[in-house]
Amino acid sequence: MRKKGRILLLDDDELIISMLARALRKEGYETQLLYSSVQAVEKIIAWQPDMMLLDIELGEELNGLDILRLLHDENIKFPVVMLTGDDSSESAIRALRYGASDYLHKPFNIEEVKIVVGRILRDARLQDEIAYLKKTNIAALSQNFVGNSPIISKLLQDARRIAEAGVPLVLITGSSGTGKEVLARKIHCWRFAERDDFESIPYIAINCTALPENLIEGELFGHVKGAFTDAKTDKKGVFELADGGTLLLDEIGDMRADLQGKLLRVLEQRTVRRVGGNIDLPIDVNIIVSTNRELRKQVSDGLFREDLFYRLNSFLIDIPPLKERDADVLLLVDYFLQIFAKKYSKQPVTTIAKDAEKLMLDYEWPGNVRELRNMIERCVVMEDTEKLTASCLPLDIGGRQSMAQERRKEFQILLPEEGISLEDVEKELFHLALERTNHNMTRAAKLLKVSYDVFRYQAKKYGLL
Ligand SMILES: Nc1ncnc2c1ncn2[C@@H]1O[C@H](COP(=O)(O)OP(=O)(O)OP(=O)(O)O)[C@@H](O)[C@H]1O
Ligand SMILES: [Mg+2]
Repeated sequence: MRKKGRILLLDDDELIISMLARALRKEGYETQLLYSSVQAVEKIIAWQPDMMLLDIELGEELNGLDILRLLHDENIKFPVVMLTGDDSSESAIRALRYGASDYLHKPFNIEEVKIVVGRILRDARLQDEIAYLKKTNIAALSQNFVGNSPIISKLLQDARRIAEAGVPLVLITGSSGTGKEVLARKIHCWRFAERDDFESIPYIAINCTALPENLIEGELFGHVKGAFTDAKTDKKGVFELADGGTLLLDEIGDMRADLQGKLLRVLEQRTVRRVGGNIDLPIDVNIIVSTNRELRKQVSDGLFREDLFYRLNSFLIDIPPLKERDADVLLLVDYFLQIFAKKYSKQPVTTIAKDAEKLMLDYEWPGNVRELRNMIERCVVMEDTEKLTASCLPLDIGGRQSMAQERRKEFQILLPEEGISLEDVEKELFHLALERTNHNMTRAAKLLKVSYDVFRYQAKKYGLL
């Protein structure tokens, strides 16, 4: 059986602690006993306990408080519970000041000892977990949004301005794999990086489609006990959890209509009401909403509330597909080559052959940066090379590239003998733009450098919608 935790007991009263230790071992804990403070700190450190029960009055040169202080000086962090025979709690309270977690009075009530030990080990485990998750979160937050194409440089500049101004609601759109989550984290950093308590400012991301239908509302807004069958306790929603920091609502485009209404209410009133609750709790959260859907189209198809769309649309950042930012492709290739060489302890690729470069620049990248990242990861793992050549790249990149070339050929305009109407040329261009962008009208309009409204009007006129 796995031990529940390692507990060290230090008391000069052998009888008392052997009795205590026996009770704890019965509960599944591993124990170690020390009866004297001589070289105690070295012994404690060597045994690496998960927690310690430490007598205050050791009747020796060093008492419990001295040991506590020495451990503190050594930066030893496990929880220590003081044992005291003193009726007044004075010295125990002093111990709490020095960092002890709790204290127990002699003579012991064994049941109380078991409860306290169980609680303290549980809390310590949670603290470790939180520290680990925070570290992972901070590592993710510090990831850079790589790109220096003119369009991305401008986008980053705008995003930074929006973040630093403290705009409380931002919409990020872009096809799958373009880096919406990376940008959301960047915005959080720009907004809060200056703060001393940056590491404790929450950044919470929730994928609005990844949760089962019956749970999503409770996850978003929280619930009170008994609000529905599974609501066994009160629960905070993500708006409350992210209070004072950033909340990313990912994949908002597919949110249920009734939840869209509730979300709009939260955004407008800046308060949240738990499911089944009757008080509105004020929230102070920077909300970033993201989607790979074209929200405008979702609105015209009756799938997304128009009022919510306008509310979200004031600060819109649209990340263009990778295909539209050639300058970033090679930069990202370099970046991922380095990252993965480090991750897999491989020699970094130092040169990229011209044929590989061309292949990658001609490619459509339907999966955007995510696809590029995965491809480079595969190359780094599978190849032992200092030079990346076309043959290192997965075959279908070549196959799809020739499709792209085919399409380009299709679109060579050959002016026929009898001439052609400009209108037909324009219609073909609109058709191609829609095809290229997977019917994303915002982007299609951008490709042809016309406004969204003009694009929509013309495309309708040509019967393309
Ligand atoms: N500009 C960038 N710099 C560095 N890494 C990037 C960049 N853009 C995307 N990535 C990487 O590509 C992958 C996909 O990015 P991300 O998850 O942000 O995409 P997304 O737009 O949220 O996609 P989806 O709509 O599918 O959720 C991640 O591994 C991310 O680290
Ligand atoms: Mg995403």
